[in-house]
Amino acid sequence: MSTQMKNPFDSKEFLKKRTYSNDNSFAFVVFGASGDLAKKKIYPTLWALFRDDLLPSNTYFIGYARSKLTVDAIREKAEPHMKVADSEREKAAAFWEMNSYVAGSYDKADDFVKLDEAIKATEISAPANRLFYLALPPSVFADVTRLVKEKCMAHDGAWSRVIIEKPFGKDLESSDKLSNHVSSLFTEDQIYRIDHYLGKEMVQNLMVLRFGNRIFGPLWNRDNVSAVVISFKEPFGTQGRGGYFDEFGIIRDVMQNHLLQILCLTAMEKPATTNAEDIRDEKVKVLRSISKIKMEDVVLGQYVGDPNGEGDAKLGYLDDPTVPKGSRTPTYAVAVLYVRNERWDGVPFIIRCGKALNERKAELRVQFRDVPGDIFNGATQRNELVLRVQPNEAVYMKMMTKKPGIGFECEETELDLTYGSRYKVVV
Ligand code: BG6
Repeated sequence: MSTQMKNPFDSKEFLKKRTYSNDNSFAFVVFGASGDLAKKKIYPTLWALFRDDLLPSNTYFIGYARSKLTVDAIREKAEPHMKVADSEREKAAAFWEMNSYVAGSYDKADDFVKLDEAIKATEISAPANRLFYLALPPSVFADVTRLVKEKCMAHDGAWSRVIIEKPFGKDLESSDKLSNHVSSLFTEDQIYRIDHYLGKEMVQNLMVLRFGNRIFGPLWNRDNVSAVVISFKEPFGTQGRGGYFDEFGIIRDVMQNHLLQILCLTAMEKPATTNAEDIRDEKVKVLRSISKIKMEDVVLGQYVGDPNGEGDAKLGYLDDPTVPKGSRTPTYAVAVLYVRNERWDGVPFIIRCGKALNERKAELRVQFRDVPGDIFNGATQRNELVLRVQPNEAVYMKMMTKKPGIGFECEETELDLTYGSRYKVVV
């Protein structure tokens, strides 16, 4: 059985500093606290919410993983990914004070009893509402959700919720199996399935750009759009995550989730309201209208090392010791999808994603058709609306203009809304 670290919430100093109310406290449990997702995304996000006072003051964060760790060790791993200004050092220290850690296995009931005790240590005047975030390999989803249900549920009217990240199964069968398992334990309103791309400013902005402007609506269809390209590029490879990655590959890791979400928001009809269910219903219609992808519309690849590259660039996918020898798992994929409905029939949606490429970039390009009846001797380029999701969020429209000055030359230029120049706060 694994050892539990001392719970810092029990310390007299901590209890003295804490102010209590009769309200429920909140316990945010990070399963997989020692992992890549936790250090890169979950702890930095929790910190950002804490920093901006977006969480109730009695929110406690409890890490859980197999290794014997301390909060300081988690802090050390997460801090390089957290934005902490010099003036925020004290607040960051206060954030880490709200953290504790429990070491335990993912399949032993006794360890979940310990976790339950650690959560109870945060309950002074009222029971804690409990949020369980599974930053875990899918192989342990079933055990962890079962043991949460058996040992760690909130009591006396407080609520419990579980948050699950992709990959939600590997194929239809395993996805159904997991769905059935999770819904046998929790009600639908207790289950949150997360795609972190939906938290990105530009992905959210798609709703407003499309449905809050008159100018795009009439053009947003097969009569005016020639192609839609959605790309994701990352300049680094598996970086020791090969064990996880190799089982899933880039299609399950990035394409079927992040890129399809962007595709759905781009292609869907206007939802009845901005409620989650209404948006989901429209997205589902898009997915149902996509025809089966043909193999000749797919390109797959796997990165190799560059002998002249520097550092990690020398290493190919198969050089990662966590990747099984001879693996043929794709790290790069392009696919052309067709949404066979009245709005989009015949318009290719080209989605492409890859690891260990030349740069970090995620973007959506809506490429318009050529202007009919050309009078400029072929000097015009197609208009393109670009949403750069990252880095440096921007919306820009590529358009033709007359080159200023004497003469009558056409020139391609951009109507450019780069967020960094227009807005002070860019998340
Ligand atoms: C994750 C994938 O879902 O998204 C990772 O598992 C990928 O492989 C990451 O690196 C990319 O997210 P972001 O927010 O850095 O673009």
